[in-house]
Amino acid sequence: LTGELTADRIAEAERRLASVAHVTPMLHSRVLDARYGVTLQLKAENLQRAGAFKFRGAYNLVSQIALREGPSASRGVVTASSGNHGQAVALAARMCGLSAHVVVPQDASPAKVAAAEAYGATVERVGTQSEERLRRAQQLAEEHGWDYVPPYDHPEVLAGQATVGLEILAAAPDVEVVLVPIGGGGLISGIATAIKQTRPDVRIIGVEPEGSAAAYLSRQAGRRLAIPAGLTIADGLRTVIPGELTFPIIQRWVDDLVTVSDSAIVNALKLLATYVKTVVEPSGAAAAAYAWTDPSPLAGRRVVAVLSGGNVAPDVLARLLSV
Ligand SMILES: Cc1ncc(COP(=O)(O)O)c(C=O)c1O
Repeated sequence: LTGELTADRIAEAERRLASVAHVTPMLHSRVLDARYGVTLQLKAENLQRAGAFKFRGAYNLVSQIALREGPSASRGVVTASSGNHGQAVALAARMCGLSAHVVVPQDASPAKVAAAEAYGATVERVGTQSEERLRRAQQLAEEHGWDYVPPYDHPEVLAGQATVGLEILAAAPDVEVVLVPIGGGGLISGIATAIKQTRPDVRIIGVEPEGSAAAYLSRQAGRRLAIPAGLTIADGLRTVIPGELTFPIIQRWVDDLVTVSDSAIVNALKLLATYVKTVVEPSGAAAAAYAWTDPSPLAGRRVVAVLSGGNVAPDVLARLLSV
């Protein structure tokens, strides 16, 4: 299960996901288009299964592990994400008849732990540093013969995320610009590869929070830079270093990298709730936040922003909406 992200791989992922993932809708607000002077369609991956695009990549990899292992193998997968990827792996594993083990930090939010457990995963709390969790997940994989499912640095995970790009082209064939949030870079690597292969004229713009702009700073440096753990409300975008597999893809296919402030993200959450009537988590609102903060480069263009996830606890959402 290694190799490159090719068009064939993406097409196979599309076939594998066809009967299990949602083709999410494009949402739209005429009021906001008029206010900001941008024709903006919102690809609603907050309405994807398990509440985020992450299900696509997780299922695409986990289903192949299940086929390969067969009924007599140790039948388990393990990952080290407390967020949407952990939930996605838990759901995909359950659907494929594998056990799932998710390593989370000691201070992981009870809501996120409960969500992974609700999908049948066994959750283990380890330390506070991501390296510690990764080590523990890899140790569990070795001890039990389980497969480790990485959150982005795997071609089959990227191929799953790439299906968002295919759906954008199918639903908005005249799109000119696509805005995508960046954490480790899996979502944007998949989308950019899927779109640029047939439509190199479409501009792909990656959006990061100001307080955690590892890809933006790495592009400036011309190499992958490790930055201090990010300070941002967008917990899915707090990445220390861009992926080994994803950064070269970003360098090749992504036209621009931009940043948004946390206050722009909170404002976008409010606009999405008020005008689009949809619940989005802070990470999932970053791309739309860019369109509504700095609309001049996008003026008059047909733009799609990916709403990448909607997993936010009600009390947190209520607090953010009342700021
Ligand atoms: C809602 C949401 N959006 C965006 C991202 C970033 O995705 P990637 O790490 O593939 O860049 C994540 C990652 O966890 C996420 O949970």
